[in-house]
Amino acid sequence: MKLNHNIEILRGDCIELLEKIPTQSVQSVITDPPYFLGMTHNGQKGTFNDLAICKPFYEKLFFEYKRILKPDGCVYFFTDWRGYAFYYPLFASLIGISNCLIWNKKSGPGIFYRFAHEFVLFYSSKPLVGKRLGLNVIDSIAAFNSGAKKTNGEKVHPTQKPVELIEKFILDSTNAGDVVLDSFMGSGTTGAACINTGRRFIGMELDEGYFNIARTRLENNLKQDS
Ligand SMILES: C[S@@+](CC[C@H](N)C(=O)[O-])C[C@H]1O[C@@H](n2cnc3c(N)ncnc32)[C@H](O)[C@@H]1O
Repeated sequence: MKLNHNIEILRGDCIELLEKIPTQSVQSVITDPPYFLGMTHNGQKGTFNDLAICKPFYEKLFFEYKRILKPDGCVYFFTDWRGYAFYYPLFASLIGISNCLIWNKKSGPGIFYRFAHEFVLFYSSKPLVGKRLGLNVIDSIAAFNSGAKKTNGEKVHPTQKPVELIEKFILDSTNAGDVVLDSFMGSGTTGAACINTGRRFIGMELDEGYFNIARTRLENNLKQDS
């Protein structure tokens, strides 16, 4: 579904939808997958054996990211400390890894020290010309729970990311008019950041409820932008 000539959102399983994206057509993949890795049903702890079932999904996903990426494109892939060890070897071998960014979001859950950071696996085929990326620790952008800026609007998804964080990744890795893809768009934060920065956006979401939330949010943002 095209919301205008720059913003397209697709409902369905990203593994199937990605197959329809042309080869070498995307400048940056910026995405925040579901964080169930390493957890059991009660959200506490799991084993690596449990994760074998997820491996084919992520192998295919990373293969598709690499295929659709332009030769000078980038990938930003969110995870937390539980998922990192699972993703790292797959990401490194199927895409390539350039760094791990650490987002210090200043607040977080946990009873054995609260965990207040998330990781972002980062790939770029070469240094980003003309960009000053700075340190790999980002600690100037707060999570929703610890006072995200009003520019983020309402919290409509349990794991919604601040728009400024995604805008930073977009500005660091793309130029105006480039295509940014988010295969797990949730409430459409990456799309909102693309509207703010003048990038083209392709978003994918499996859940009908979140797809509709993203659609309404992006339609409203486009109205405000025009
Ligand atoms: C962590 S959330 C993303 C939240 C988003 N960053 C935001 O700011 O709203 C992950 C999303 O991926 C969606 N999802 C899970 N499996 C999917 C799949 N196979 N294809 C597309 N979307 C999927 C979930 O429904 C969920 O909304």
